[in-house]
Amino acid sequence: MNILTFRSQEELNKAGAGIITGLVQTNPRAVLGLATGGTPVDIYEELVEAHRQQLVSFAKATTFNLDEYVGLDRNHPASYYSFMQEHLFGYVNAAPERCHIPDGMASSLEEECRRYDALLEQAGQIDLQLLGLGHNGHIGFNEPDHALRSGTHVVKLQEQTREANARFFDKPEQVPTHAITMGVGTILKAKMILLVVRGSDKAEIVARALQGPITTECPASLLQTHPHVVVLLDSEAGGRL
Ligand code: GLP
Repeated sequence: MNILTFRSQEELNKAGAGIITGLVQTNPRAVLGLATGGTPVDIYEELVEAHRQQLVSFAKATTFNLDEYVGLDRNHPASYYSFMQEHLFGYVNAAPERCHIPDGMASSLEEECRRYDALLEQAGQIDLQLLGLGHNGHIGFNEPDHALRSGTHVVKLQEQTREANARFFDKPEQVPTHAITMGVGTILKAKMILLVVRGSDKAEIVARALQGPITTECPASLLQTHPHVVVLLDSEAGGRL
């Protein structure tokens, strides 16, 4: 595991975006696993800027988002579909037919999970999976549990997770109770994982995830088993290492 700690957000953002653009420049058909939440927003802004300067093209890339809320229309402002439009897809030349996000409104969520896994299978291995980290150690929406699922599945969100995401909704009770998430098996199959964490409120979970015991009670700790993980931290998030 390669852990890099940055003094400034700007340096961290440039490093994160640099890794992604470097990959897509050398392999324009790269398969990218993408994340939502507050953490990647400024990295996406850097990617948009690199695209604006014609340093990178996403025209041939394929993308898979980690997760989506169940029961939110994709045009709802807090859906992850809207998030991706607002922060990345609305400004770069990625082909919409190759930008995949689970459909949280599917009439059969089970079928939607199978459809998503089939698309992942068809695309082959994810070249780079971008991840944020939940306060409870979740990756994607894989919440701590006594057992974790490998493939895409529906998950009940923990109250702590719903509270952390309430800032994206008008009222806390509007945060959906369930989500569809890529499983940890799929995440760990990625060739490379880029974990980004910011802020002192994540310092403790960063230490548990990167240096604590490997346990499904801290899903991010499973990343310790992966051969190619790069971790980008600001100095606050890295404060307990
Ligand atoms: C969210 C997302 C995760 C994200 C994490 C941290 O709920 N499902 O993919 O990494 O929680 O979010 P944030 O970056 O806003 O702290």
